[in-house]
Amino acid sequence: MSLTLRDERPEDTAEIREIITAAFGQPEEADLVEALRTANDLTLSLVAEEDGKIIGHIALSRLKSPANSVALAPVSVAPDRQGGGIGGALIVEAIARADKDGEALIFVLGDPAYYTRFGFSVGTAAPFDCIYAGEYFMALELGEGKVAVEPVVYADAFGRLG
Ligand SMILES: CC(C)(COP(=O)(O)OP(=O)(O)OC[C@H]1O[C@@H](n2cnc3c(N)ncnc32)[C@H](O)[C@@H]1OP(=O)(O)O)[C@@H](O)C(=O)NCCC(=O)NCCS
Repeated sequence: MSLTLRDERPEDTAEIREIITAAFGQPEEADLVEALRTANDLTLSLVAEEDGKIIGHIALSRLKSPANSVALAPVSVAPDRQGGGIGGALIVEAIARADKDGEALIFVLGDPAYYTRFGFSVGTAAPFDCIYAGEYFMALELGEGKVAVEPVVYADAFGRLG
C-alpha cells in the first residue's frame, strides 16, 4: 500500500466532500472547500490517495491580504487513518508547494502543539491583525519572508463558516 499525494481532479469532488465531512463530523468544512473552489480561491487542493481511495485532503486558499500569502485550512484525514502521519505528510507537501509557488507566508488556525512541528509559530503571526488572531493563530514564513505587516483577510467563503 503506497500513499500518493496529488492535486485534486474534477472527479474527486464527491470523495473529497466525504472525507472532510467524516474527519470533522459535520459538513461545514466541506462546504467551505467547495465555496473556495467555486470562487477560484483555492491555490492548492491536495489529496492523499491509497489504493485508489482518497483518505486525506488539505487546502490552501488565497488571502485577500497580505500579498503572496495563503491560508492553510482545512486538513482532513479519514477517522480510521488518523495518527498515522497522513496529516503531517499533507501539511509538509502543502508547505513545499506554497514555497515553490513563491508564497511568502502561510497562516493557519489550529492547535500550536500540532502545527509548531511544521514550523508554524504564534510569534510569526502575532504582528498581523486578523479576526482569528489569538493563541491558536500561527504563521510560517517561506523563502525570503518579509511581507509588509497588513491585516490578514481570509477569502469570503470563510465568513460563512461562522
Ligand atoms: C488533524 C488531522 C488532520 C491530523 O492528521 P493525522 O494524520 O491524524 O496526524 P499525524 O498522524 O500527522 O500526526 C499525529 C499527531 O498529531 C496529533 N494531533 C492530531 N490531531 C491533532 C489536533 N487536532 N490537535 C492537536 N494534535 C493533534 C496527534 O496527537 C499525534 O501526536 P503524536 O505524534 O505525538 O502521537 C486529523 O487528525 C484530522 O483529520 N482531524 C479531524 C479534523 C481536524 O481537526 N483537522 C484540523 C483542523 S483544520
